[in-house]
Amino acid sequence: MARHVPTFGCSECGHRSPQWHGRCPACEAWGTLAEEPAGEALPRAGAGGRRAVRAEVAQAPLLKDVGASSGERVSTGIGELDRVLGGGLVPGSLVLLGGSPGIGKSTLANMALGNVAQAGGGTLYISGEESAEQVRLRAGRLPASALEVAVCAESDLDVVLATLSERRPRVCVIDSVQTLRAPELASAPGTVGQVREVTARIMDLAKELAIAVVLIGHVTKEGALAGPRALEHLVDCVLQFEGERERPYRELRALKNRFGSTSEAGLFEMRDDGLVEVLDASARFVAEATKAPGSVVLATMEGSRALLVEVQALVAPSELEQPRRLVSGFDRNRLALVLAILARHGKVPLAGADVFVNVVGGVRVEEPGCDLAVALAVASAARGVALRQAPRACFGELGLTGELRWVGHPERRVREAARHGLSAVICPPGSGDGAREAATLTQALSLALGGAEGKPDRAVAAVA
Ligand code: TYD
Ligand code: MG
Repeated sequence: MARHVPTFGCSECGHRSPQWHGRCPACEAWGTLAEEPAGEALPRAGAGGRRAVRAEVAQAPLLKDVGASSGERVSTGIGELDRVLGGGLVPGSLVLLGGSPGIGKSTLANMALGNVAQAGGGTLYISGEESAEQVRLRAGRLPASALEVAVCAESDLDVVLATLSERRPRVCVIDSVQTLRAPELASAPGTVGQVREVTARIMDLAKELAIAVVLIGHVTKEGALAGPRALEHLVDCVLQFEGERERPYRELRALKNRFGSTSEAGLFEMRDDGLVEVLDASARFVAEATKAPGSVVLATMEGSRALLVEVQALVAPSELEQPRRLVSGFDRNRLALVLAILARHGKVPLAGADVFVNVVGGVRVEEPGCDLAVALAVASAARGVALRQAPRACFGELGLTGELRWVGHPERRVREAARHGLSAVICPPGSGDGAREAATLTQALSLALGGAEGKPDRAVAAVA
């Protein structure tokens, strides 16, 4: 009899190894390798591996002869969600909605289904995590349409598929993909094998019946979709719902979208009666900006939309050998770079000082146009001088030689600032009308803070 040779599978990335490792050789996650039960092969991505023999010869028409689908989409009734999806849900597609626990995934999904139901489409909310009563309890807080959703508390994949074929809803939500279980696999729900199998089989059925499916997935502490990283290439669209749990703002981003752009983002606020779209986020952030030393308004881009956010900085003498550099809402390495440019070209000494930077409201900014705002906020905090009344808003990328570099959509940023009463904006050369152009960081500093004559803050002067 053939001896069973154990294999070990990584629950993060699906890597398989004949040997156990404490750290996965592929994705370098710790403690994720576990022995796979005898005879269980991980299903390969997609359905191809399961149907090796094809009797018929497939057709291969020219692309121009392939009938394009009418492009008809199902609106979720939530403008921000539709926009991030690229215009609504595509029938027969799979959307993976990821986010950390408690961020509001179930709430968003339930509200979207409620709107679809209200518009006359069939819905199904499959909950493997919560009982129907628990789902009902949450829906009770939401707009009335949320209660019109059909709910089914089930975690057996076969039952779920049978229910879907029977009811044929327009939109179905699976909450969550990690709780469903394919009975023919021995491994526990949530493992890579299970999650792949569950997704592949749901995808086959969704395509066949033109059901738009939203799979909810949990996210690990590190921010990756737990387990179903292997899923990201299977599904059509990966949405990430993020924000800080203690604060009300939530941001929805598309990490992958076969039917739309991945640069769009939607902003929501979690209230007592569900998620509310934040339509004029700029107005809110500008009104909340403190105008104190260390506060700068950044004109950034969220996808195709200009958004004004406040960037705050605090610079304080450090008692540590290695001073602290803490940042929220902005890349840590990018901060190190901006601080180095600021020290070298802006003559703002920061050695021996702790630097804290925060993008207010729990918003995360990722585009290169944010550099200048971070630099000005830190310089303003270090000198203890508030930015001049005008110009108070800015954008621009910093080059390593201290120059200010052009970034995309300057006219939209300037217009957005003007709409909120910030008429002059410090920005790179070539940014157009209404802009206060600066070619270098030094020029930008003197426009914002009035040159080097601003008195250094005593606390920081002491460390400098
Ligand atoms: P939930 O959608 O259950 O999060 P997830 O599915 O991502 O785990 O929402 C969780 C939190 O949102 C919960 O702590 C309560 C809060 N919440 C509100 O503040 N207002 C509401 O109307 C609802 C439904 C939830
Ligand atoms: Mg949930």
